[in-house]
Formats: sequence, structure tokens, C-alpha cells
Amino acid sequence: MSEAHLLKQALRAVVSGQLRASRDPHRPAWHLAPPVGLMNDPNGFIQFNQRYVLCYQWNPLACQHGAKFWGQWSSSDLVHWQHEPLALAPSESYESHGCYSGSAVDNDGVLTLVYTGNVKFDDGSRTAWQCLATRDERGEYRKLGPVLALPEGYTGHVRDPKVWQHEGQWYMVLGAQDLMLQGKVLLLRSPDLHQWTLLGEIAGSQLNGLGDFGYMWECPDLFELDGSQVLVVCPQGLAAEQWRYRNTFQSGYFCGELDYENAHFQHGEFHELDHGFEFYAPQTCQSADGRRLLIGWMGIPDGDEFFQPTKAHGWMHIMTCPRELTVAAGRVLQHPARELQQLRQQEVRFSGSADSLPDLDIDSAELALSIDGVCHASFADTLTLDAEPQGITLRRHNLRSGEPEARYWRGEVRTLRILCDRSSIEVFINDGEAVMSSRYFPDPLPQLRFSGSAQIALRHWRLQQCVI
Ligand code: FRU
Repeated sequence: MSEAHLLKQALRAVVSGQLRASRDPHRPAWHLAPPVGLMNDPNGFIQFNQRYVLCYQWNPLACQHGAKFWGQWSSSDLVHWQHEPLALAPSESYESHGCYSGSAVDNDGVLTLVYTGNVKFDDGSRTAWQCLATRDERGEYRKLGPVLALPEGYTGHVRDPKVWQHEGQWYMVLGAQDLMLQGKVLLLRSPDLHQWTLLGEIAGSQLNGLGDFGYMWECPDLFELDGSQVLVVCPQGLAAEQWRYRNTFQSGYFCGELDYENAHFQHGEFHELDHGFEFYAPQTCQSADGRRLLIGWMGIPDGDEFFQPTKAHGWMHIMTCPRELTVAAGRVLQHPARELQQLRQQEVRFSGSADSLPDLDIDSAELALSIDGVCHASFADTLTLDAEPQGITLRRHNLRSGEPEARYWRGEVRTLRILCDRSSIEVFINDGEAVMSSRYFPDPLPQLRFSGSAQIALRHWRLQQCVI
């Protein structure tokens, strides 16, 4: 379909649907959400000429997955975002079934997108092209077409290029599935973003002593932080265990050391990045002041998503808040980006036993707590959090089946920082040691009630609305 036609369809969908979407009481006050339609992965996250650009996988035409566009926002401070014209529409034959996920780089002053052109065939098979697009001074993207076809030895599932520069060369990691149906991460090198050489598989199922570790690995991201190299990736097909891997698909990281010359990544164990119900396909960028920032999709492509009530208002899914990463003792720590403190309104403090605390307004709020003992927190009777000596449990009822479901984090709980935004919570445990992100759909608007014998010292802030 021609680009002009696709853009017209998208524009019509936004103009006719955005009022209904904006009136949804579950619409976030300060998290990013699509104006209409279904949003998934963050893409092309970069700070360029002092402005953050964040694109996203987007089907503006319906609340379902399909031939994805790239929507686009920008911000000077990670808090106040503005919608920008759509970046990519799947108009060309090499991307006929979607401009799939990818990243952005600053190529000598030119903002360049590297993304996957996804093509499906009638017999159910597919292929993938890694493609380029550049942004001009007027902010318009021009597609340069494919620069890499499917490498030999892999199925049509090769996608999600994340590109960075190292010692004068460009490097790319790609998520891939080999012909034995094992998930892998490929490392490639290029002098100019156009000619790519496959250096090898740096991680994957059946590699580096991992054993069977999923049939496809999506959305890899590789960066250096605090003296360690971190590979973030989303393996699909890990079996659920008692305390971990409870979501349909996982998202986590390996810390290690990358040998660029031999394409070898010596890494430690896989750790989940988030222990909540909804988190997937995160992407990072480096800010001008040297911080490694991460934004994830607060969703999972598992089918249950279509039972979320926002679908009836014509929009689905939100991004997580921007997070700052650090590495200590081989583990990634996550903290809400410091810029978010701008949203805080008047602070209220409480302390005492959990049973004695008043109900709190958590429509759009931040809480910082220290906890000593056992406590139960009920978010509008829809989602509960139990802090016990052995860890944290989040519970809710599955939107599709109505069955109770739970997610866990195991460890000693000392402090919690909880960010609430109408239909989401993000719980940062022990100063970033772990995070649990989840959607929930309270009706009417949310209140938080504590009970239990724990001694709690709590700070509470209402957060200002700031999403357009
Ligand atoms: C992850 C993912 C990516 C793909 C995109 C398509 O959620 O499946 O692998 O590029 O979403 O929307």
C-alpha cells in the first residue's frame, strides 16, 4: 500500500479515536501511551541534539498486532513528551508485514534508524530485512532500504537490530532463530552502516553452557556499564518455574565480557529485569550526561492483553517509566529516572504499623517506604502486594480466565519505591535491586490500603499529570 494511503489511514484513526481514548479513566497521567491503537516495543530511543527521541511499535489502525508502524515522541527531559509525526509506515515490499523493532544512532550528525522489514508469505513462512532510514532537517524520515538480507543458517525470525559505535566501527546485535529452532543473538560489524559482516553468535540457547534456553530471542541490546558488558534480551520459550519465568515471555540480562575480535561473550547467569506481570522488549540509550536509560513495554504479547478494558476505548498498552541503570556485583540495578521527581507535588509522611496507616490516593502517585515486618497492600482491591520476610508477591485475577495469578520476587525486603499511574504500578525493591511492573484496571479510581503488623515509614507524593 502506498505510504500516502497508510499515513491517511493512520491520521484518520487518530483524529476519530483520540478523544475517546483520552477520556478513558485508565489512561495514564504521566506514562506514555499511544493516542489510539496498539503500542508495543520502544524503538529508536536516543538523545539527539539535546532532545530525547522515542519511537514505538504501533498499529494505529486497530487494537491488534499487525503490520507495525513506528510512532514517535520527543522530549527535552524524559518527563514532558510531545507527539511527533509518525516515523515509519510499512509501505514497501521489503517491510510489507511491518516496520519491526530497531534502534537509532547518531551517524555523524544524521539521526539514522536501523529496523527490521518484516515480510510474511502465503505459506506461513517469512523473511526479514535489516533496513535504514535517515531523518532530515525538517524531521522527515527517508527510507534507504535494506542493508542486510537473512543470514544463512537462520529461519525468517531474525530481527530487532540494536546498533552502537565502538572504536570507529559500527556493531549490531540481532535477535535470531537458527535452523534447529534455538534462540540466538548475532553480532555484526560495519564500517558505514551499509556493509555488514556477520561475526558470529555471541549468546543463545545451547551456547556458552546455557543448555536449552528458548526457541527465539528477541530485542537484544548490548552496552557497557560500570566496567561490565550487559546483554539485555528477551528469550521466548523458557519453562515457568516456581519463582521465576512466570510470564509467557521473559526479559532479562547477562553480565559479561565481550571480545569484539572473536565475537565471544563470556557471561554469567540470566537474570530477569522485572518480576511483575507486564514487562517486555526494553530498549536503552545513553544520555549526554553518561547515564544508561531504559524504557520497557509494560505489556506482554501473550493474548491475555486483549482482555484489558482499554481496548474498548480504542487504545492498548503503556511504556514503563524511564529508568536509570547501574551495575553492582554483576547485577543490574534500576532506579526511576531522576527527572521524574519534577512531578512530585506536596509530600505527606506517615509512620506506624501497617494497620494504622490511612488509605492513600494512588491515582497518580509515588510512595517511598521502609518496611520492617509483614504487610499486605491492596491496590483498589484489584491487585495486592504482600511483603514478607522471604520476598514479595503480587497477586491479581487473570483478565481472561478470572483465575488468581501471582508473581514473585525472593529476597529480604527493606525499602520499596512505588510509582502508580491510574492503571499501572512499578515497584522498585531495595533501591533498585529488583522491579515489579504491572497493569491493573481499578474501577472506580485507585486507593491503596495497608494492613499487617509491619512498622512502616512512608512518604507519599501526588504526581502531576503531564501526558498530552
Ligand atoms: C517484540 C517483537 C519484536 C518485533 C516486534 C513486532 O515484542 O515481537 O521481536 O520486532 O515485537 O511488533
